[in-house]
Amino acid sequence: MSTYEQFIFKSSFINGEWESSDSAYQVLNPSTGEVITNVSSATPSQIDMALDSANQALPAWKGLVASERADLLMKWHDLIIENEKALAALLTAEQGKPFREALGEIRYGASFIKWFAGEAVRVYGDILTPTKHNKRMMVVKEPIGVVGALTPWNFPNAMITRKVAPALAAGCSVVLKPSELTPLSALALAHLANEVGFPAGVLNVVTTEDPSQIGDAFCSDPRVAKISFTGSTAVGRMLAGNAAANLKKLSLELGGNAPFIVFEDADIARATDGLIASKFRNNGQTCICSNRVLIHANIKEKFVEVLKRKMSDLKIGDGMERGVDIGPLISNKAVDKVQELQSDAVEKGGVIAMGGEVSRGQFYQSTIIDHGSTDMRCFREEIFGPLLVLYAFNDDSEAIQVANDTDYGLAAYFYTSSIDRVYRVSEALEYGMVGVNATVISDASAPFGGVKHSGQGREGSKYGLDEFLHKKYITVDLAQDS
Ligand code: SIN
Repeated sequence: MSTYEQFIFKSSFINGEWESSDSAYQVLNPSTGEVITNVSSATPSQIDMALDSANQALPAWKGLVASERADLLMKWHDLIIENEKALAALLTAEQGKPFREALGEIRYGASFIKWFAGEAVRVYGDILTPTKHNKRMMVVKEPIGVVGALTPWNFPNAMITRKVAPALAAGCSVVLKPSELTPLSALALAHLANEVGFPAGVLNVVTTEDPSQIGDAFCSDPRVAKISFTGSTAVGRMLAGNAAANLKKLSLELGGNAPFIVFEDADIARATDGLIASKFRNNGQTCICSNRVLIHANIKEKFVEVLKRKMSDLKIGDGMERGVDIGPLISNKAVDKVQELQSDAVEKGGVIAMGGEVSRGQFYQSTIIDHGSTDMRCFREEIFGPLLVLYAFNDDSEAIQVANDTDYGLAAYFYTSSIDRVYRVSEALEYGMVGVNATVISDASAPFGGVKHSGQGREGSKYGLDEFLHKKYITVDLAQDS
């Protein structure tokens, strides 16, 4: 473990300078409720300065050869890894997840920088086959321009690098607005980028207590070419509406309602391990956390017995304490929402088979709700908390029908030992990502994203770079043969 004081920055980072304002907001530690520090809230003119500096920095940045951008990205990656323990401690302080998990996030976040440093030098165009003798035709890929990035509190580091690294690799400049709940990890990343020599204005971080102010600026300002957002479907829908008038390009990584399906032939030991890893990652506060657990009726009793035994070993507490598996929820509002979903489930016939209480502050017991039904809110909405809802099914078609009966389409998981099911079910699930006998699906080399109301576009992988490039077609008419 490590201290993080050297990584506390308290104001926006614009054009290579720290810019404070007269107004500030508190950043709280969700485990203790203590104030970590105050961070200044950007003024409208500072938001304008950030957009201006990104716009001014763009021509020189995109004018570099890709390997120069890749070299800087690798230096940034290396410096992050050198400081991983302090960055993880900072992340635990502002977000609450256990230190071990925070360290995992710092490495996961850095893996996107390394991946896109590699991809930066592999932006290939095309030579096309012309339909006329004297024509020559080609496609080149160019950076889209200034990117406005809006990132959430559940992954204060990795959701930034997953957007910013491909944007910078492609030759775009960025104005980033991190969540007001977790701005410190973002500012630490900006500091390290500055240390390794990213030119001023290429990466700007604007801290503000009023997300709508900067969201509106991204949607309306002609200097912003592209908006990349991770967060709720409700806010994504609002952004898409506001951005439509100015035809901004959008990448949206939104909410999920992941089914976790356990077929009769599943390996129960592996399935329960997979479920716990997925459901309780970040205390259930992940867009791809299992949200509904569908179990074949014939194995449900055995499954629940093993699950309860394993869940009772999970230690809940302050993420900086040794041996802690699960931290607090992010805020009191988040606690209230989980309680509401639990009460709704109980009113509709759900039975609390384990947990169900707030132990103290923002710490919520890991909870099982048995006899889940499709009309419960926790079945239809993204829970974002440690409620595990069980539903018994009788055959494959029922499981698939229930799994797909949602507006969301981010991640889905299932456990089986039948190769036929592996193909049939993964093809039938209407989701952007499917884990088969697997719940650890996130990887820098894989395309992360959803269908339906879970968003549009992909992050990570070779596809993640395309989101920041547009294709320019160039054709040349040659003079007739002399
Ligand atoms: C998310 O919750 O949106 C991100 C989860 C991940 O990258 O695995």
